[in-house]
Amino acid sequence: MDFREDGAAALEWAARYLERVDELPVLAQVKPGELTAQLPESAPEEPEEFAAVLRDLDELLLPALTNWQSPRFFSYFAVTSSEPAILAELLAATLNQVAIVWRASPASTELELRVADWVRQLLGLPDGWHGHIEDTASTSTLAALIAARDVTGRNVVVCSEHAHSSVEKDARMLGMELRKEAVDDELRMRVPGDLGDVACVVATVGTTSFASVDPVRELAEAAHAAGAWLHVDAAYAGSSWICEEERWSADGVELADSLVVNPHKWLLVPTDCSLVWTARPEEWREAFALTPEYLRTDDEAFSLADYGPPLGRRFRSLKLWATLRVYGAEGLRAILREHIRLAQLFAAWVEESEGWELVAPQRFSLVVFRRDGTDAENEELLRRVDASGEMFITQTKLDGRYVLRLAIGNARTTEADVRRAWEVLNREAER
Ligand SMILES: Cc1ncc(COP(=O)(O)O)c(C=O)c1O
Repeated sequence: MDFREDGAAALEWAARYLERVDELPVLAQVKPGELTAQLPESAPEEPEEFAAVLRDLDELLLPALTNWQSPRFFSYFAVTSSEPAILAELLAATLNQVAIVWRASPASTELELRVADWVRQLLGLPDGWHGHIEDTASTSTLAALIAARDVTGRNVVVCSEHAHSSVEKDARMLGMELRKEAVDDELRMRVPGDLGDVACVVATVGTTSFASVDPVRELAEAAHAAGAWLHVDAAYAGSSWICEEERWSADGVELADSLVVNPHKWLLVPTDCSLVWTARPEEWREAFALTPEYLRTDDEAFSLADYGPPLGRRFRSLKLWATLRVYGAEGLRAILREHIRLAQLFAAWVEESEGWELVAPQRFSLVVFRRDGTDAENEELLRRVDASGEMFITQTKLDGRYVLRLAIGNARTTEADVRRAWEVLNREAER
């Protein structure tokens, strides 16, 4: 292949995709197996042109894409892969730094530490916390539970009934017992009475279903009084702390032993990029550090592989660094503030309109609502809205009732997109 020529074509493909992503169906309009049936069963024996890859990307893969970069992607937590981060991913793959020990990539190791510290400052977190990047919040929380178990010698995890499923999965993988606590009227985890045998309390700031905020301060105090570790899962909402006015939800986070925030959720960085900090770096490191002879060096520097499960580490800091520099903190704040404004606007339409109900307090950039009627009717409404290709939302359950979630998080989303979503919902509801 001709790297320059094919590279230019790939970049052109990327630019054209981003220009027209607005016109593509948001949810993939294919059936399971439809793409598989079109793909060769075996790899080619003879080399092909890179152009053939781009052609199949257009003809075969494009129809099977759910377009996460669409401005009317309102599902799960909507995300953005920003242009500087896209280019940084290209460069990271070019450089292929595998930061297993410091000398294997001084650049990746040191940039990651520095960028984690930049974000720590932007979020208003305490000095002295040690931050690094894992692939996902699932892995970051896994690491926190490992550290908590190592430090406390206990085997129980406590979280809210609305904590993300990754907490349950992590506990299960570790063979730890999980206790789920009930929530109050505002969907906040109740502070458990007896934590005497607990290794880790996981508090969530911005739950997946409702973006509710657990009482971190009270949970931290109770955890510490009982000798337990307090881990905060702010995978989604933590990014909002770059805005001073959103720091209400960070109350008590300074007491945490560890914290996860995902720049790949709401800080314009493509998957995967999950930041995890700990206030107890020495103890955290003891849970993971292990140096076989083939990795031993006499460098007076440390290796980030000593802070988490994987040995090989991608150059993820490059895309975070590029995004922070090209947008600047003010640029990122403006985007998050607009998302929050749009969510408030949508929530106001729901509240003012007959036939619609806001089912949970509106928080951050998420709105949880439903149409008057049965669960089956709401389910059918969601099916029709998503099938339209004009927008994509998902559902959750509150007290057994089927409810709809509209999550705003794409940097391309404008007020016109949110208005269109409201129109599509009303149109399909009235059909
Ligand atoms: C609150 C919360 N925690 C954790 C996760 C898991 O994130 P990841 O996909 O990075 O593992 C999610 C995903 O949406 C989430 O909403």
